[in-house]
Amino acid sequence: MKTPKSLVRRTSWPESASQPLVTPLQPSVVYTSGDPDALDAIYTEKTGFSYAREGHPNASVLASKIDYLEGTSGGIITGSGMSAIAAVFLGLLKAGDHVLGGDQLYGRTLRLMTQDLPRLGIETSLGDPTDAASMRAAMRPNTRMIIVEVISNPTIRVADMEGIAQITKETGALLVVDNTFTTPRLYLPFEHGADIVIHSVTKLMAGHSDATLGYAVAQDPALMTAINDANVTWGLTPSPFDCWLAERGLHTFDLRLDKAERNASALAGALAGHPAVERVLYPTRTDHPDHNRAMGLLGGRGGNMMSFILKGGRAAANAFTRAAPEIAFAPTLGDVATTLSHPPSSSHRGLTPEGRANLGITEGFFRVSVGVEDEGILVTEMLRAADEAGRA
Ligand SMILES: Cc1ncc(COP(=O)(O)O)c(C=O)c1O
Repeated sequence: MKTPKSLVRRTSWPESASQPLVTPLQPSVVYTSGDPDALDAIYTEKTGFSYAREGHPNASVLASKIDYLEGTSGGIITGSGMSAIAAVFLGLLKAGDHVLGGDQLYGRTLRLMTQDLPRLGIETSLGDPTDAASMRAAMRPNTRMIIVEVISNPTIRVADMEGIAQITKETGALLVVDNTFTTPRLYLPFEHGADIVIHSVTKLMAGHSDATLGYAVAQDPALMTAINDANVTWGLTPSPFDCWLAERGLHTFDLRLDKAERNASALAGALAGHPAVERVLYPTRTDHPDHNRAMGLLGGRGGNMMSFILKGGRAAANAFTRAAPEIAFAPTLGDVATTLSHPPSSSHRGLTPEGRANLGITEGFFRVSVGVEDEGILVTEMLRAADEAGRA
């Protein structure tokens, strides 16, 4: 009788004196170890990997690259930008704590602040991060942390980061900075008093709209352990394939950002001169409400994000998007190509028209995540769309 053959067996990786040039993708959910002592060492001395939810090589490689950009070490990758924020909140807050947030945080972060944290017995309130005095006035004896974004979405306001860092320094509250819009190329939070930095890696860092990931890091190892434990225990951890894609995107992050920023600056100037455009919001422009602060904080850089307001309301907005088919009308940011979003019909649709008007978000408001395409083509397309908006 023939011995039956089975393909279900443990195959060892071929020996090789050479190394792959590209980071290998490692999808394994679990890792074998030699004996219980070796497994003990993996848990206690971090000598290797055991189970992918607890960590895997592709997440470690990606985290160490973002650590390098942020000038730190020990950061972790999470399954999305929101799970990075969730890991920080779940790891560091308890019922009875108070969190103060910027009043123009990303929509889902605002939802966490206004609905989910209160449900867990955590007090929250929002303040204007461009006005450190109002943030100081909103502090409570139990304020455990302040969470802010440096550049607000979609109004492109620039927070008073120095003033806010001074408050956390004096009160002992933790300063959490969502550095997604600014990226470490424009702003290094740890050089300005931050305790914790988070990112939606989904955006500019991964850069190709094909991976959803986040990153969180704390300078203090005890805080970092608590954040990592929340990530692993609540299952917020990332897929190896997404990490692999994001690492590939990260290779060109600085090139993409610099080119997109040049495009954004050119586009801001071109749109500002168009008769159908009421206003352009871009930090390096002298008519930006926080221009002086932005120039100091961002080292004279403006980044790839800009907003503009069309005269003519919704009709002009519809005409603009229809006339620019090459510019994807999609509510995301940080893609390699330019994307256009209309906050009144997407991220801010939940607000009343008055609530939107208070933020300056009218029906003609667009946010642009500028990409790396040819500057001439981009500017021509946008100006042509503005012409159409003017005729609507
Ligand atoms: C500033 C900011 N923070 C966090 C997030 C959440 O990131 P993700 O979509 O990766 O969960 C976003 C998403 O747009 C964002 O813009």
